[in-house]
Amino acid sequence: MKKSVRRAVIAGNWKMNMTPSEAKAAVEETARLTNGMSGCDVVLCVPFVDLPAAIEAAAGTHVKIGAQNVHFAEKGAFTGEVSAKMLAEVGAEYVIVGHSERRQYFGETDETVNLRTKAALAAGFKVILCLGEVLEQRKAGITSEIVSMQTKLDLAGVSAEEMANVIIAYEPVWAIGTGLTATPDQAEEVCALIRRTLASLYGDTVAEATTIQYGGSMNDANAAELLSKENVDGGLIGGASLVPAKFTKIVEAAQA
Ligand code: 13P
Repeated sequence: MKKSVRRAVIAGNWKMNMTPSEAKAAVEETARLTNGMSGCDVVLCVPFVDLPAAIEAAAGTHVKIGAQNVHFAEKGAFTGEVSAKMLAEVGAEYVIVGHSERRQYFGETDETVNLRTKAALAAGFKVILCLGEVLEQRKAGITSEIVSMQTKLDLAGVSAEEMANVIIAYEPVWAIGTGLTATPDQAEEVCALIRRTLASLYGDTVAEATTIQYGGSMNDANAAELLSKENVDGGLIGGASLVPAKFTKIVEAAQA
């Protein structure tokens, strides 16, 4: 199977930006500007409170809406958390799990990321599973060990069938929000390693069919070169996804 048969996915991660009214306007503008660009899926992952406004604004368009996290319990005493059932009822289709900001600032571990991934898949979501090395790990030459370990731990107990709803986002932590982008060759090297790890877990067919995104300071200027790489099937975009015109240029770059 070739890259050309994998579905490219360009997803925005708005992080903690946009109020509901701002979200409505940004989703409408993104949908308008990317209208007809059918060569990739277009997803916007928005703050929880923006979900209803974003979903309403995206209705009838090609833009899909996702959340930025989900708890693994069905319900209960987990102050501040949101369940998969809650997200499903408001109409979210995607959910980001394991973002490095959750791991760094909110103590999430591969174990909790794995639980969240499985809960989201069981509820029928498409999961964007984020992983990647921090700078010290890259400097120590252990990027491949870290990334393959995260892939294995985060996907433990996820079936080959469920992998149809998993997108992996390789996000080197040192490239997030820093303006430092992995070079296209660095991104390709690690995305290819993730695919080999998937092949060892699930076999070649699943590995070849899985969309693997790059994330970390992807923007309108560098997207085309990153996306031209054989194993880079899309992007998870932070800062540039907040500006519909910039995000649209990245969606455009994924049309080739
Ligand atoms: P930036 O594009 O702002 O570097 O963020 C990347 C990211 O963390 C997407 O999830």
